[in-house]
Amino acid sequence: MTQLIPDIRGPKLPPFQGDVENIEFMGLLSPKRQDNSSDNIPHSRVFQINVGGNRYALKIFNFFNLEDLRPFVPGGEHLLTDRIVRYHLDPFYAECRAFGLLLQEKKDHSLAVRCHGYSFLPQTVENRIYEQFGIDDWHREAEDQQHPLRAIFKDYIPYKSSCGRKKLSAMRSNLKQLNELGVYNMDIREDNYRGGRLFDFSLAITAPHINLSLKLWSKRQIEEDIRYDLECFERFEKSENEKQMEKRATQSLASERELRSRGKNKAPR
Ligand SMILES: Nc1ncnc2c1ncn2[C@@H]1O[C@H](COP(=O)(O)OP(=O)(O)OP(=O)(O)O)[C@@H](O)[C@H]1O
Ligand SMILES: [Mg+2]
Repeated sequence: MTQLIPDIRGPKLPPFQGDVENIEFMGLLSPKRQDNSSDNIPHSRVFQINVGGNRYALKIFNFFNLEDLRPFVPGGEHLLTDRIVRYHLDPFYAECRAFGLLLQEKKDHSLAVRCHGYSFLPQTVENRIYEQFGIDDWHREAEDQQHPLRAIFKDYIPYKSSCGRKKLSAMRSNLKQLNELGVYNMDIREDNYRGGRLFDFSLAITAPHINLSLKLWSKRQIEEDIRYDLECFERFEKSENEKQMEKRATQSLASERELRSRGKNKAPR
């Protein structure tokens, strides 16, 4: 498989080159229980896997129906063709385009997380997921019954915390550079960072993109989207700083108490 996707103007992602048939599933990284109500379909499930001795995070995407993805823009229907809606707005292809641009610019590792390409998973792998995890609901509708599962391979990030050792100022500068390249993540929040790395691009707007078209949206609406990532980051930064301050206050209170109790326990001279 050598095909770059999606087959539409703009950045494209190459296929994963490893031995997909022999993926070894180590565990589920996404929450075990997902809210599966029809108006809130989760984008994916992410697994920790091993292929040929290398560890990856494998993001396997749910299927989405075109009409659920299609925005309501009176008068703009002729611009929102099925291909545009599928390839710009389906979470799998949105992530393919964002990482496609990052790979092309050789910036995936520095600005986000190293990406190793996409794969359409063989049925044997899908069966293995069912046998090992009991997962078989991928939100396929009648038109998707014959379609294989769609997946993206990334480096596994071995951190539990969102910032790890990275400074918030460095994370902000990476986000700014990402935006300058033409990738707007649109889902900046604590949960989408690990070890200071941004890994979730399933809502990303990557230029050229229908959401950046003046034929469909006003200048003001587009500028709002362009500013959105840094605004969300500011909120995230504020809450991280508050958490740090609380932590420091608790630590200094604890050491004050410790000093006082040591003082009390001193034998009188
Ligand atoms: N590269 C990675 N390394 C380590 N863990 C990861 C990686 N990618 C994803 N995860 C884990 O899997 C979870 C889901 O990943 P991701 O956010 O990409 O999926 P999602 O379906 O878009 O989720 P949501 O809609 O809840 O944001 C993350 O919260 C994180 O715990
Ligand atoms: Mg996420």
